[in-house]
Amino acid sequence: MDILYRKLADELASLINAGGFQSGDRLPGVRNQAQLRGLSIATVITAYRQLEDWGLLEVRNRSGFYVKAKPAVAAAPPRIVVTTMRPAPVTGQDMVLQLIKAANDPAVVQLGAAVPAAEFLPTRAIEQALTKAARQYRVRTANYEFSPGAPELRRHLSRRLADAGCAVHPDNLVITNGCQEALTLALRAVTSPGDVVAIESPTFYGLLQVIESLGLEALEIPTNPHSGMSLEALELALSRWPVKACVVTPNFSNPLGCLMPDAHKQKLVAMLKARDIPLIEDDIYGDLSFSHARPSLLKGLDDNVILCSSISKTLSPGLRVGWIAPGRYQDKVEYMKYVLNLATTTIPQLAVTELLENGQYERHLRRVRGDYAQAVTRMTEAVIHYFPEGTKISRPEGGFVIWLELPGDVDSFALARKALAQGISIAPGPIFSASQKYRQFTRLSCACVWSSRIERALVSLAGLL
Ligand SMILES: Cc1ncc(COP(=O)(O)O)c(C=O)c1O
Repeated sequence: MDILYRKLADELASLINAGGFQSGDRLPGVRNQAQLRGLSIATVITAYRQLEDWGLLEVRNRSGFYVKAKPAVAAAPPRIVVTTMRPAPVTGQDMVLQLIKAANDPAVVQLGAAVPAAEFLPTRAIEQALTKAARQYRVRTANYEFSPGAPELRRHLSRRLADAGCAVHPDNLVITNGCQEALTLALRAVTSPGDVVAIESPTFYGLLQVIESLGLEALEIPTNPHSGMSLEALELALSRWPVKACVVTPNFSNPLGCLMPDAHKQKLVAMLKARDIPLIEDDIYGDLSFSHARPSLLKGLDDNVILCSSISKTLSPGLRVGWIAPGRYQDKVEYMKYVLNLATTTIPQLAVTELLENGQYERHLRRVRGDYAQAVTRMTEAVIHYFPEGTKISRPEGGFVIWLELPGDVDSFALARKALAQGISIAPGPIFSASQKYRQFTRLSCACVWSSRIERALVSLAGLL
């Protein structure tokens, strides 16, 4: 039944997303659908429940399953910033520390750092898993869990990757302190100081900091807010510059939230493979799709792709559990991880194993994907309502951040400083660029519990604009 319900759910999700069913349409009744397709009633109900979890359907008492209203997004998407592509050292990251400090200050309204509020995280289940791990493995948790990390966690991760169409043996995974460490290890494994790394523009500022700390140069490739890194631009860049690695977040990139289509993924992998350039995939948001099945991985197309990820956006950033599947760089990465900090803390690794094993991770995902989708819709609608006309807004397909292009001659650095003085944290556009582009842009995190305090913060931001 597993496969049948998923096939039906995927088919209906595609139909809804393509406009085959409109907001408010009623889906055929369970009995009718079952008869029509020669499926059991239980299979149809499970498929409909899955669509409900994905935020596409809602049940109306006694009258059936209806397509949920899509956000009333009237704003245009932000533009793609195209400039001359030239490798350059990373500059201007000093603002980020202020942002990070603000993220731990309860007096500040958190719209800056992409850190989910505790209400989005399964804190009770985590507490139980930590307690169980501490009791069950008292001696083991007092010791190092040397690189490559807890075998049972690697086994579970390997199974999840297989479900996403990606065969990675547990021996080919290394557990890390979050995705940030995985990215650091990946770039250290394949580059030397002075090398050029191709990245999406805009991109996650943590990646820029890793590039800066390793003495590398960033080559910013224009990125489409809908389909991800421009492959035409990348091709041109590869023909001009001695690129030594390429880092991408194909599934719900940060800050754009876009999903690279499968055909682009195939082309990207082939393009880099043909030139023997290491491809590093950051999949930290891959489990957080709003309405599709889990998107495919570049790693599933070529085992030599280096995959980096973590549970920081799904379970908890505080546990600091991430992983890397380094392909042919396994031995090097395993050794570098050991040299860097010997091991990742033992208890969180075993607690995450427990959450994967007892099904809590999967159950939590089913809930939180809908919660994030709703949070993004609400924030988008509020921005449309309060911000000046002409504000352009991304439409993420997963994750929990939105990327805004502000109208007029706005300096988002100055805006962020003034907002912080009023107790509101936002992430100004230039920190998402190696060369401080995106002065007129800003990112908002939507993973906050909606309240009048958040609404007032948006009104204040609009006032500052
Ligand atoms: C795209 C991306 N990669 C990596 C990270 C870092 O993740 P972690 O907290 O697991 O180190 C983040 C965190 O914001 C991110 O957005």
